[in-house]
Amino acid sequence: MDFTKVLIIGAGQMGSGIAQVMAQSGLAVTLNDIKQELVDKGIANIERNLTRSVDKGKLSLEEKQQMMANISGASVLDQTICQVDLVIEAAVENAELKRKIFQTLDALCPEHTLFASNTSSVPITALAATTRRPEKFIGMHFFNPAPVMKLVEVIQGLATSPETSDAVKTLAVKLGKTPVMIADAPGFIGNRVMIPMINEAVYALMEGVATAEDIDHCAKLGFNHPMGPLALADLIGNDTVLSIMEVLYDGFGDPKYRPCPLLKKMVQAGYLGRKSGKGFYQYNS
Ligand code: CAA
Repeated sequence: MDFTKVLIIGAGQMGSGIAQVMAQSGLAVTLNDIKQELVDKGIANIERNLTRSVDKGKLSLEEKQQMMANISGASVLDQTICQVDLVIEAAVENAELKRKIFQTLDALCPEHTLFASNTSSVPITALAATTRRPEKFIGMHFFNPAPVMKLVEVIQGLATSPETSDAVKTLAVKLGKTPVMIADAPGFIGNRVMIPMINEAVYALMEGVATAEDIDHCAKLGFNHPMGPLALADLIGNDTVLSIMEVLYDGFGDPKYRPCPLLKKMVQAGYLGRKSGKGFYQYNS
């Protein structure tokens, strides 16, 4: 199957990053969100990233303009907007919201349209089962920042067909990514390994074992990670980190995944990380 038109639901950091990746590969992409200002913000974010690449001499102005011409925005969903080969949902990590989005899309999209969710934690099999096309439903999990990170987890639900898996795997390669094929399991692989490490770092901070900076130094200087776990939590969003821990805790029923109380408190306080200006560190807008 050839993909030429893609619809991205959710213009936040993941949705706009994925839209950028698609546009860079020559696909026609529509970025959708519930408010026009969110769509505009997502597109402005892409423009800023591409301008930075032009300034660094990594992209010509003409190439940037061509990529921007591949992107359109929409704050509504109708049959015209939904005339696409693939939808990638990158809305907030709320299973009920995602279910509603896919049910709306199911009614509006043509029969051939494949559905992918960029969910970091909601089971693909359960989301797929709420549509009339579970065989055309798959997880396509990009990592943040999507234009930079090479990994795409391709998550196969129980009903996902081999044709859907092959098509999405091929697309990921075309996008310059490295796909990893994964069966549907809580946290998939990336988050199952990484998010408990972040949670453990928050426990260490809560217990006063070391400062946030020193905890992060351990990962940066000791393991050569590009950033420490607390800075990474701020990049991902502490609300997202918490929701993934909760999915691991519920999904495995194992107390080793208990979310750290300090992480919960941070989210209650609105200290979500970079996107709110404050997390484990302070950020200027
Ligand atoms: N969007 C697009 N491009 C970005 C970007 C963004 N938000 N942030 C950085 N970049 C680009 C820069 O433009 C630069 O590009 P060039 O090499 O072409 O010049 C490149 O990335 C490096 O950026 P910087 O020099 O500014 O900074 P850096 O070298 O410190 O890298 C980083 C920044 C890429 C974020 C790096 O620190 C890193 O890799 N951090 C770890 C990120 C990570 O672990 N992500 C996974 C999160 S988990 C997840 O996403 C899964 C989930 O479900 C929660």
